[in-house]
Order: sequence, then C-alpha cells, then structure tokens
Amino acid sequence: MNGKCEMIKDVKDILISEEEIQDVISDLGKQISEDYKGKELYVVGILKGASIFMSDLVRKITVPMTMDFMAVSSYGQASESTGEVKIVKDLDFSVIGKDVLIVEDIIDTGTTLSYLTELLKSRGVHDVRICTLLDKPSRRTVNIPVDYVGFEVPNEFIVGYGIDYAEYYRNLPYVASLKEEKYK
Ligand code: IMP
Ligand code: MG
Repeated sequence: MNGKCEMIKDVKDILISEEEIQDVISDLGKQISEDYKGKELYVVGILKGASIFMSDLVRKITVPMTMDFMAVSSYGQASESTGEVKIVKDLDFSVIGKDVLIVEDIIDTGTTLSYLTELLKSRGVHDVRICTLLDKPSRRTVNIPVDYVGFEVPNEFIVGYGIDYAEYYRNLPYVASLKEEKYK
C-alpha cells in the first residue's frame, strides 16, 4: 500500500488488497475464456464504476472480443419499486445475436442489472451473462443469476478500485470500507 495516499484517513478497513483483486481477476479471465471458447464476446462495462475492473479483466480474456460501455442512473425512489433505470449513455452497436458479458463493479439490490439484462434480451441478444467484481448478496431484493463473482462483501459501504462515494475514492487501488462519518 502506498503510504502517501491522502485518502487513507477516510478508510475504515482495507477489505481486499490489490494482489487479491488481481489474483481473482486472473481466475475470472481464465474461466470466462474457457466458457466462451470458440465464441466471440461483446463485453459491456457499466460506467463509471466498472471501468477499472473491466480494463484489468479484458486483458485476461483470450477469446476474440469487443468492448462497449453503458452509463445508467437510478430514477430515485421510484426505481426501487419499479426497477426502472435511466440510460444515460447507450451502447454504440447493436447487440442482436451477440454473446454479451455485462461487467459491473458491485451488485447490491440487483435492480440495475435486472433491468439491463431484460433490456438487452428484448433487443435480441443471443446470450447475456453477468460478471461482477463484488457482490453484496445480503442486500438482494431482485433475484438475478450472476454468472461470475469476484468476491462477496458484507453489507458495508464500499469504495475503491472504481467504486465511489460522491465520485471520490475511485482511484484507491484496493477495495475498502469507508468510515461512517464520511457518508452519514
Ligand atoms: P443495485 O441496482 O442496487 O444492485 O445497485 C448497484 C449499484 O449501486 C452499483 O453499481 C453501485 O454503483 C452502487 N452501489 C451499491 N453498493 C455500493 C457501495 O457499497 N458503495 C458504492 N456504490 C455502491
Ligand atoms: Mg455501478
């Protein structure tokens, strides 16, 4: 860990180290490459949180693939009951007939990915699977199948390795919990 990091004072615990993250990403890349042998992948990252995970993950994938990104935002309170999310940036290309792998930073209630997988199915994908670095299964309200999971994390507020609080902390190289006084 870099002792010069100014944000360390806000960190409660380092939950997953840089080395642990990279080891799991190597395993995920190997598994994905085996599962998609002979196929071509369309990897869709959910901005902004998944961008750092995605950039490390794709370099461990050995099958032919292309990359795209989507940005979504929640509709606020209404989204919790309707499961509706707003597409802020849509995909650049059609997904018809493609094998799509959605890459996400963290799955909490499951609302976002449930909506997105249904949306992509309605657009005619051949297959859609989900790869998330972190999973908070205790918080799930919408049941969605998650195909690839890096780590399960406790029900704490998480930051780092792409994941933010109020847009900060994405540049922490590890996954950490945040001191409660920082977000409450
Ligand atoms: P879901 O739709 O409830 O599954 O929410 C998923 C999104 O909520 C993630 O992509 C994150 O952007 C955000 N999120 C969930 N838990 C955390 C957390 O602990 N820290 C930061 N963002 C989180
Ligand atoms: Mg996200």
